[in-house]
Amino acid sequence: MCGIVGCIGKKDVVCNVLSGLETIEYRGYDSAGIVCRDENTQALVWVKACGDLVALKEALVEKPLHAPIALGHTRWATHGGVTVENTHPHFDCHHTIALVHNGIIENYRALRADLESRGHVFRSQTDTEAVAHVLEEKLKTTASPKEALLATVKELEGSFALAILLRDLDDTLLFVRNRSPLCVGLGEDSASVVSDMLSLDQSIQQYAILPDQTIGIVRANFCEVYNFDGSPCELVYQPFTWLGQLKNKKNYEHYMLKEIHEQKQVIIDVVKYVRTLGNNWYSAIGLQKEEIQKLESIFGVACGTSYHAACMAHQYMRSIAHIHSYAERASEFLYQPEMPLKNCLYYVLSQSGETADTLETLRMLKKSGQKVLGIINVPTSSMARESTGILHMNAGLEVAVASTKSFTVQVVLLYWLAYKIAQEKGLVDSFAVEQAENDLLVCAQLLDGMIDKYQATIDERATYYASFSKYIFLGRQESFPFAQEAALKLKEIAYIFVEAYQAGELKHGPLALVDKNMPVVVFSSLDPIIYRKLLSNVQEVKARGGIVIAFAFEGQNELIAVASESFVFPVVAVHLGPLVMVSLMQYWVYRIALSLGRSIDKPRNLAKSVTVE
Ligand code: AGP
Repeated sequence: MCGIVGCIGKKDVVCNVLSGLETIEYRGYDSAGIVCRDENTQALVWVKACGDLVALKEALVEKPLHAPIALGHTRWATHGGVTVENTHPHFDCHHTIALVHNGIIENYRALRADLESRGHVFRSQTDTEAVAHVLEEKLKTTASPKEALLATVKELEGSFALAILLRDLDDTLLFVRNRSPLCVGLGEDSASVVSDMLSLDQSIQQYAILPDQTIGIVRANFCEVYNFDGSPCELVYQPFTWLGQLKNKKNYEHYMLKEIHEQKQVIIDVVKYVRTLGNNWYSAIGLQKEEIQKLESIFGVACGTSYHAACMAHQYMRSIAHIHSYAERASEFLYQPEMPLKNCLYYVLSQSGETADTLETLRMLKKSGQKVLGIINVPTSSMARESTGILHMNAGLEVAVASTKSFTVQVVLLYWLAYKIAQEKGLVDSFAVEQAENDLLVCAQLLDGMIDKYQATIDERATYYASFSKYIFLGRQESFPFAQEAALKLKEIAYIFVEAYQAGELKHGPLALVDKNMPVVVFSSLDPIIYRKLLSNVQEVKARGGIVIAFAFEGQNELIAVASESFVFPVVAVHLGPLVMVSLMQYWVYRIALSLGRSIDKPRNLAKSVTVE
């Protein structure tokens, strides 16, 4: 997943491109580049730098660029290492074509071999560069840039959002959209082609999400779009209100910390939102009453943190809605033959709504005739547009690569959905639903207080926690996927190795790992039977000299007594134990990463939205 920003204006737009790249740097920050025309020679000139945008800005001090049309890119490396040569933009043999790309050209090796056999000289190891040379060839043999683009896309396989600057085509950017997202913005004297509407600048008055499999030409306040078969394609424009003000850290040191503290309000807002759906809630999310009443199972597909949220729903769906619940990682589900389940509600869960594995799963399920509910945070995303029905997450902009509030909102929505399904099936009444909503609000009110209660301890002991190079996290029932989510957090922002296990599994092998150099963190449960089982698992650890850090509940005195140290939480509704733990877990991980000097909001090797498979 990379970020594309192309700008056209009356005056110098290089600064617009840079600020646009800053707002979508979450999409990848291995390296960045920018290209425009030299104002005197009209030759293409460019600056590239490895590292995040700070490095590009420093390089621009050495070699300033100024132009009324410019193209920029932030890269998350897929093919070819993190080097200046592999940084976008990429060029044809004679630097008459500059292009930036998000996606993967799956047949680039064959293309490159054929082009090199015809004398083309490649400068990088990327898949992207092949597109520049194919376009170079097509421009020689077609009557117009439009025809050349149509001929070019016929040669390409894979996912590709492209923005292109031709040295000899004034005031114009070309673009292509195939699977990877791309958006066009128009202003009175300006235009933009961007990966994410977040990066549109204040001059833009209207925007359109480009339909899949289209090419086009954009100039100031003008855009022409064609389908891959050459037929014209009408864009649906929306009025645009600049979003730049949404991205600010307020008085927090990091976006992650801000977003951890936003969780209380976000839960309150989400409960308010679902209450507005009223009794016809199912039609608001694209379903019929009868479908809900006949429902026998629910099947969630997602990636990463969103997958963990889908796993959290298991208990809710089984014990509250009395239906089977399945959760699959999209990258696996995509390639396994699946017998569609009858009377099953399929849903995709995604903060960005652009995760390639999940998006392709959505498309595959729809192609097989399934209705798919999208539980999505970005309302303008591909998944939000392509889902049969949508349950908006309304979590607000989440900037930090490590998901926090989006995970919490997903858990809240799935808990609520379990109760609404139970209500339609006559298992619970409206008072039980109201009580469930109130239970969610109780958790919301407790979140910040738990950080206040333990912040001093965690801040003081962060170096100690960070001194371990490996951890085991334990949970049972819904606290197991929560343990998996906590483990993902510690891995992705502190770069510490963590293995999450169902606590009952420890004695079947992993217990051999336990010693004083590998702390065991146990996330307790409010279910009394599960708690007793967890307690004996923890005693097995203690009996071998292991260090136990317990996320326990008031009254669980045996666990608190046997643990080396504990964070003690108020008792809440039986299935909402992880929800009341979530902010403190995230803060604990955040402080460990901070004490290690990690890049909190942009961890190494990662990106916020993984738009490549
Ligand atoms: C989690 O902290 C990561 N950001 C990552 O696992 C993320 O949850 C995953 O890539 C799925 O993203 P999505 O929710 O936008 O689909």
